[in-house]
Amino acid sequence: MDILVLHSSRFGHTTSIAGRVAEHLQQAGHHCDLGPLERNTMVDPQQHGAVVVGASVRYGHFTRAVWHFARRNAERLSGMPSAFFGVNLVATKPGKDQVDTNAYTRKFLERTPWEPTLREVFAGELDYPAYNPVDRFLIQQIMSRTGKPTDSSVHEVYTDWERVDRFSRDFAKVVARGYACGDVGTD
Ligand SMILES: Cc1cc2nc3c(=O)[nH]c(=O)nc-3n(C[C@H](O)[C@H](O)[C@H](O)COP(=O)(O)O)c2cc1C
Repeated sequence: MDILVLHSSRFGHTTSIAGRVAEHLQQAGHHCDLGPLERNTMVDPQQHGAVVVGASVRYGHFTRAVWHFARRNAERLSGMPSAFFGVNLVATKPGKDQVDTNAYTRKFLERTPWEPTLREVFAGELDYPAYNPVDRFLIQQIMSRTGKPTDSSVHEVYTDWERVDRFSRDFAKVVARGYACGDVGTD
């Protein structure tokens, strides 16, 4: 099957996770088109039989493009296997690392008409050297509240890659079974 794997990423970490998901799906025998999610991205069911979207949080929100995409494509997506994963640093905290307990991801899924077959949240990356001074300062404030590093030389990846691989395997099963809307068991 041809699978569209989209990423909404500011510093490239969500792109890396999406790349790893695409690699897995390719190993499972699918062809993947990997690319950025943009404001006008539309799903073409003639071209793709399944869709994965990954998006990072910046100052409390997924980008508008992600919301637009979910609203405009909800109907098309409801007829095919689809998956969404959110990426953020709050998900580094135990108790805020599940779809239902990670407020950004839960609210997004509650407020869009798209009902992805599979949903996940991953802890992201902290990369102070890559940030401009204002972003660095503000992220340091957020990190100090959660007991995470505030030293501006820190570059740390908190993503559990095993969990990414599990998500990829689960989505390969969803695709194989042709599941569309709603939660599914992926034994
Ligand atoms: C400017 C900025 C703002 C951020 N705001 C939040 C936030 O509000 N909540 C959160 O949990 N993580 C926040 N993060 C963390 C990012 O979601 C995390 O670093 C993620 O890995 C970024 O992925 P990306 O490189 O694909 O954009 C922020 C990061 C940056 C650089």
